Amino acid sequence: MPVQRTMLLAVLIAAAHVAAAQASPFDGADPKTGKGLHDGPCVACHVRLVGGDGSKIYTRQPRLINSPQALLQRVSFCSTQAGAGWFPEDERHVAAYLNQQYYKFK
Ligand code: HEC
Repeated sequence: MPVQRTMLLAVLIAAAHVAAAQASPFDGADPKTGKGLHDGPCVACHVRLVGGDGSKIYTRQPRLINSPQALLQRVSFCSTQAGAGWFPEDERHVAAYLNQQYYKFK
């Protein structure tokens, strides 16, 4: 049954793509929750560094953060610096928010 085989293959390939998409480091993280967390302890220090609303730190060139993993590591590092007392899932929410807003990693 070559036709059915082909269909089965197509379904399997589609499923594999869905699985790959869900393997994003921000999977299940909530950017809205992230924004709420971020707007407290993260902004003042960045404002001191770059002025404005502090967001320029996320858009400066050349960009130091080149991958979702690097973003997550930076959020983790900075939240420790800030003494934010966040859990790893909080860091993922914030990284998801920054990614959605500024970095746009897939
Ligand atoms: C005590 C000051 C301070 C606080 C508080 C702080 N940061 Fe930062 N942050 C920095 C500095 C300094 C840099 C730039 C580091 C560099 O140039 O390598 C930076 C850079 C970053 C970057 C990378 C920007 C880029 O693309 O190059 C991210 C992301 C970031 N901070 C996230 C956060 C988050 C999330 C918080 C809140 C938990 C936070 N920061 C709190 C000082 C701070």
